[in-house]
Amino acid sequence: MVDLDTVVSLCKRRGFIFQSSEIYGGLGSAWDYGPLGVEFKNNVKRLWWRDNVQLRDDMVGLDAAISMHPRVWEASGHVAGFSDPFTGCSECGRHYRADQIYEAIWNSKWFRAIQKVLEGPAAKKNEWLAILNWAESDGKKIAPNFPLSKGVDYPLVPTGYPFEGPEDPKFREFLETLGRKIIATDGSRTEPVPCPNCGAVKMSVAKPASLMVEIFLGPVKETATKTFLRPETAQGIFVNFDNVLQASRKKLPFGIAQIGKAFRNEITPGNFTFRTREFEQMEIEYFVIPGTDEEWHQKWIDERFSWYPRYGIRKENIRLREHTKDELAFYAKRCVDIEYLFPMGWSELEGIADRTDYDLKRHSEFSGKTLEYFDEESKQKLIPYVIEPSAGADRSALAFLIDAYHQEEVRGEKRVVLRFHPELAPVKIAVLPLLKKNSQIVETAKKICADLRKHWHSVYDDTASIGRLYRRQDEIGTPFCVTVDVQTVGDGKTPADEKVTIRDRDTMQQIRVPITALEATMADLMAGKWSEVAKQFPAQPVA
Ligand code: GAP
Repeated sequence: MVDLDTVVSLCKRRGFIFQSSEIYGGLGSAWDYGPLGVEFKNNVKRLWWRDNVQLRDDMVGLDAAISMHPRVWEASGHVAGFSDPFTGCSECGRHYRADQIYEAIWNSKWFRAIQKVLEGPAAKKNEWLAILNWAESDGKKIAPNFPLSKGVDYPLVPTGYPFEGPEDPKFREFLETLGRKIIATDGSRTEPVPCPNCGAVKMSVAKPASLMVEIFLGPVKETATKTFLRPETAQGIFVNFDNVLQASRKKLPFGIAQIGKAFRNEITPGNFTFRTREFEQMEIEYFVIPGTDEEWHQKWIDERFSWYPRYGIRKENIRLREHTKDELAFYAKRCVDIEYLFPMGWSELEGIADRTDYDLKRHSEFSGKTLEYFDEESKQKLIPYVIEPSAGADRSALAFLIDAYHQEEVRGEKRVVLRFHPELAPVKIAVLPLLKKNSQIVETAKKICADLRKHWHSVYDDTASIGRLYRRQDEIGTPFCVTVDVQTVGDGKTPADEKVTIRDRDTMQQIRVPITALEATMADLMAGKWSEVAKQFPAQPVA
């Protein structure tokens, strides 16, 4: 699998994603989608919207405001309880999620270096001596405050190496034994684990930190409305439940979908666009008759799990993970995550929860407005249960991008290709003139591009040789290139054949097609019918 640094660098080079405010040194954890990135992410959102709203009878959409009444967040429980356990290093000032500290250490530069040492030949003779030697040389540079780098006495604990991962009790014991010894001599009240950044055993005792981003709406701070940027789009749906019900006359079961920005003061944002403080969600609140919720929950799990492979995610790279009882939100009856195998390991892409009637009940209670539904069948009023498939637009886009990334060798040269599903590709067709000094070729290519543009996002490019142009389009995932050459327009000796070459991104196969048939052919190709189309048109040498 491709590593994250390679993806970040491709995204910057080709204009998918840039660091926010880069010319000012960058704003941590915020990212800007560039010319190709915005097309690509819009495609992810468009497909989600089409499949979950427009192609279903039982769904409608909504676009609620990001700023909402402060009472919304009291009712939802966010003010009281939307927090993560927080710990900070008093030596270097870095902050971490206390519940993820072992993962952070496991992935830290210095621990990765220790792992290398332990796998090397020196450790075969004496593990501790090998670590000590490392600590006194490289350790001083990458973990300057690590007790061993400072020459602090160390306990002779058996490492039990190889550790199996951050969850491995042997790994935790190794770190804690080391830390407890330091704390015992130091006497200060801190967590007995080294800082993932500098190695100091000076992590503060964990305490909850609110994830809510506070805002003041109004020109004068003293009289302004203090509220929060929404940490999820879901609440905008719950507070509009009755409005939508009255306006759309929907009957249960039905759902409301929304795509929009959400904001969280994450303690440890990172891994590119995976965890940021500003991100986009694609959420559905699906309202059902109580008692039918378990069945609907399963239906949505199945539906959402089959959605990602439909657009290119390989089946072996996604899985379902059932929440254990102790990680379930207190209002949720059941929750299942769809996880993707990101370069940093299996991580959440989407959560699908049975939220019961918690939210509608709480908003009824706090607003004084009854949020009930009259069930014609039972002739009774009831509060619907809610099934919530909640996906991240940025995380989905990142997963589609990583899964599409391929590197191969073609005639001794490296070829990078993003094998995007055509519906996700930011550019669908590139029209390329073989000779940019031949005005007839250029004019014909531009005209073809203008015609194709009416149906598919197409670009014209004449800024390099044809070989380089193909590689550039491969690297941004353009499914098809159309090349106009001398044969197309004729050269005074040979008459124009009025045909163009279509090249397939993945196989690099080429066919020659009359310009008059180009639009219909492209429609077939976008629908995945290359082999049928190739039977009608002569194959060309691969380029
Ligand atoms: N309404 C339920 C809810 O918000 P969540 O699991 O906190 O549930 C849903 O968020 C999805 O939003 C996640 O599966 C993830 O894809 C995305 N998400 C959450 N926090 C994120 C962050 N800090 N950065 C990027 N995406 C995030």
